[in-house]
Amino acid sequence: MRKRVLVTHQLPGDHIHNLTQHSEVNVWMGPGLLSAQGLREELAGCAGLVCLLTDRIDKALIDAMPDLAFVSSMSVGVDHVDVAALTERGIPLGHTPGVLVDATADTAFALMLSAARRLGEADRFIRQGNWTKENAWSPDFFNGVDVSGATLGLVGLGATGQAVARRAAGFGMRVLAYNRTPREVPEVEMVSLEELLQLSDFVSIHLALTDETRNLINAERIAMMKPGVVLVNTARGGIVDETALGEALSTGQVYAAGIDVFEQEPVPADNPLLGHSNVMLAPHVGSSTTRTRAKMADLAADNALAALQGQRMLHCVNPEVYDWQSSQPA
Ligand code: DGY
Repeated sequence: MRKRVLVTHQLPGDHIHNLTQHSEVNVWMGPGLLSAQGLREELAGCAGLVCLLTDRIDKALIDAMPDLAFVSSMSVGVDHVDVAALTERGIPLGHTPGVLVDATADTAFALMLSAARRLGEADRFIRQGNWTKENAWSPDFFNGVDVSGATLGLVGLGATGQAVARRAAGFGMRVLAYNRTPREVPEVEMVSLEELLQLSDFVSIHLALTDETRNLINAERIAMMKPGVVLVNTARGGIVDETALGEALSTGQVYAAGIDVFEQEPVPADNPLLGHSNVMLAPHVGSSTTRTRAKMADLAADNALAALQGQRMLHCVNPEVYDWQSSQPA
């Protein structure tokens, strides 16, 4: 009998069609995203799940699915999944690193430039009809801070951090980086996190959200930063304490911020960053180019197909499950 696979959203790319040749695929067609209850109902009896970062795959859900044999997420980040609970069951989790590196690095740079040069404020200024003859131009009209020649601190020097460093080189920036495991990357100086915070004019976050990185950029660390720093986050919301950042924006300790990811998404109306005009906001669109999203979907489908065919996923978050699987009696 063909195995059942749930796909929680219509996906771009074309590899997803390969799955239909090997399994009975059920694609959630909406409207909107699948609710937690809907996910539980649709996933019952399925051997596989292809999901998005908006689907919460927690232990209760995993425990309620005795037939579940693989999960493939169309995302590089997997903080929406209880990886330990999957690993305990010997279930591989696929993800999509690599293919979104350049798009995400472009977004980080775009947010950095926009925040530094107040482009969000400038756009609103025109749209709101404030650009009048009386208010036409002056020597300090929308002055921001220079990106070219400034010092950029990268918190995390994985593939995306390195891609941001390459872009920074074109802007003549000095690039510092902190990474748990030091890395040798041309034109990048490895420093401690404290040194990075003290020396950088711009700080950009490129880490996964884990128990260790949650609230890493808290009030204490923001206070260590250079006064007037610009902070950019395209990684995950929980890494930056939004209340502390809001306060630092009010005092000027942080000059501006470019934020694509939030503690709670979509952002509630009382999010502490929404009231600050010097924050360039984006709704978690770091990887959103048509080509990148198709590549992510294709990789998620390839991971799922490999699992369906009893092979190793191309990119597996918990490869130790393969040792576990081979130790089980046939
Ligand atoms: C991911 O894949 O984790 C990204 O946040 C999507 O942009």
